[in-house]
Amino acid sequence: REHKVARQEDGKYLVGTYDEIAALLHDPRVSSDLRNRAEPDPSIMPPEGPPPSFIGRDDPEHDRLRRLAMRPFGPPHSPGRIDALRGDIARISGQLADGLRGKSSFDLVDDFAFPLPVTVICDLLGVPSEDIPQVHTWADTVVSGLDFPPDEDPGARRHAAYEARSAMGQYLGELAEKRRHSPTDDMLSALANEDGPEGALTQQELMVTTVLLLIAGHETTVNLITNGMLTLLRNPEALERLRAEPELIPSAVEELLRYEPPVQFLPQRTPLADIEVAGVTIPKGVPLILVLAAGSRDPLRFPDPDRFDPARRDNQHFGFGSGIHNCFGAPLARLETQIALTTLINLLDGPRLLKDPPEYRNSPVLRGPRHLLLG
Ligand code: HEM
Repeated sequence: REHKVARQEDGKYLVGTYDEIAALLHDPRVSSDLRNRAEPDPSIMPPEGPPPSFIGRDDPEHDRLRRLAMRPFGPPHSPGRIDALRGDIARISGQLADGLRGKSSFDLVDDFAFPLPVTVICDLLGVPSEDIPQVHTWADTVVSGLDFPPDEDPGARRHAAYEARSAMGQYLGELAEKRRHSPTDDMLSALANEDGPEGALTQQELMVTTVLLLIAGHETTVNLITNGMLTLLRNPEALERLRAEPELIPSAVEELLRYEPPVQFLPQRTPLADIEVAGVTIPKGVPLILVLAAGSRDPLRFPDPDRFDPARRDNQHFGFGSGIHNCFGAPLARLETQIALTTLINLLDGPRLLKDPPEYRNSPVLRGPRHLLLG
């Protein structure tokens, strides 16, 4: 409460309290574009490459690209197309769950939480099923670029991530070209053939946008499902309550986004001017880190913040960020996690955690177990 803004030894500024994070996320003087850094940040800046996707752009370019990417989903804020996926998600979830039935032990990550969102996002975009394993390998390599294994040179990892991202962009660009000539009802066809009043995405914009959607749709939802089951198995009363009152599942998912969020912090904000926060001036051009996970447990904002309460009210967490970059895929991620938890709660009868705490991935940004063994 006394030191709401911290300056790290490496010169980066860190903010982790609710009101201050909210103010910065809604401040147009705070940029998401790493090209506004006074000095390049070798830990996250790719060495070369195309202009960033809209998660790394500021308005008005961010707004134009986000709106173009959103158009195939229907009118803004309408759950239309996503809600229509409910049946498909339930079917995939049920098939994966059937594969677990009767097994004496299984890995929730590899056997359920990973294949569900990956299959859904690939289907939605229009990646043919035979290419999904390759897309998965690329996406995994890109996301591993965020990991910091203690005994490894991060440079090699980032280089591999960069190469995988380029290969993915190339692949999606070629697929979009095919859909331009023979469209189907997938999102790639819609994006490739878009020519509404705001014009179309250029080929390069299409490539970086679809790579962003595939990657963003890959790892985060996996972690939310896994963190969710881990939290419920550690809180058996909450698990029993959800079994008895399934109508609480949506609010339990919101609570998981607050209590165990997959995205711990946003590493890529930069002030475009000197900005005063809680009496401290954060200088223009320096790296600014917003610790969303800490903001979502700020005791000034959330009563009893370290308690997992599946029926918590007024839960305006930062699990999906806030402001102009708030998560584009939130309706899909919510639906997938609600269905996944419902399926798992009904399937698992007295399951045990075989290893607690589980092995976590080495990423400071993304929090989630690498494997979660249940029996
Ligand atoms: C943005 C979290 C699922 C696509 C964000 C942000 C967060 C987040 C915290 C804000 C980033 C920032 O402010 O810089 C999550 C979590 C998910 C999830 C926790 C799952 C539980 C998805 C899915 C998709 C997606 C399934 C794609 C279909 C995006 C995109 C942005 C974004 C495109 C950038 C939005 C913009 O810059 O305007 N997400 N996300 N996310 N997310 Fe998600």
